[in-house]
Amino acid sequence: MRVTIRDLSKMKARGEKIAMITAYDYTSAIIVERAGIPIILVGDSLGHVVMGYDSTVPVTMEDMIHHIKAVMRGSEKAHVVGDLPFMSYQADTAEAIRNAGRLLKEGGCQSVKLEGGRSISETVSKITQAGIPVMGHLGLTPQAVNQLGGYRVQGRTTKAAVELIDDAKALEEAGAYAVVLEGVPKQLAQMITERLAIPTIGIGAGVNCDGQVQVFHDLLGLFDDFSPKHARKYANLSEIIQGAISRYVSDVQEQTFPTDKESFSMKPEVVQELTGQHFETV
Ligand code: KIV
Repeated sequence: MRVTIRDLSKMKARGEKIAMITAYDYTSAIIVERAGIPIILVGDSLGHVVMGYDSTVPVTMEDMIHHIKAVMRGSEKAHVVGDLPFMSYQADTAEAIRNAGRLLKEGGCQSVKLEGGRSISETVSKITQAGIPVMGHLGLTPQAVNQLGGYRVQGRTTKAAVELIDDAKALEEAGAYAVVLEGVPKQLAQMITERLAIPTIGIGAGVNCDGQVQVFHDLLGLFDDFSPKHARKYANLSEIIQGAISRYVSDVQEQTFPTDKESFSMKPEVVQELTGQHFETV
């Protein structure tokens, strides 16, 4: 049985912090689950770290479904959240419900995440009424990068902070089971966390959220294009991988790979029979 949204709610009630991380494929899903992650996000950040776009805007429903399926095959116990990509839910509520349904039916994940506050709360309500759990996402909402004018911390003024608190309340009232707070001052994240019964999951939102989420590639030092202030590098895998691959390149050039240990052989009599034969070229 996978972790459910009820389990996540109980974790908040018990004061047990929730560690969430992104994964985009089968292998990384196996690794993060073995490490004890209860909730995996197949984030549209795959637009940056897997597909090489400069924002999440170009990511499609098909991209998301493809990666969610892979993560589902690699995970067994974790709750898997799939991101609804840009323009799959903003224009029309019926289309939003259908697309949220596709992530569950075709991708196989257990819930969906979408960005926005009060302006999207009617859609959140309709999706949850269709039986699809929704995680909200407030603050620095990457799909709105063009509207925000860059990847900037949100909610720093009194007016902006009050709006964010109101947005968080609106999502909770609409039936969201959790909300990601991205790029907001830690004091504001704490205020929101204290005002909500549902868990808050922070990224660049301080230690007082109910949980934290990080991008797999940031945490492991796999992505060098930029390094967000909120990310802690627990490993420098790109250096390790690059080192390993350069050793492979020189081993191939120097013919020290493969050795007999890494090769297959045939019986000497067969070799003799073959070498004694005259092969005609065709
Ligand atoms: O797409 C993503 O990875 C996200 C996290 C940064 C929260 O939305």
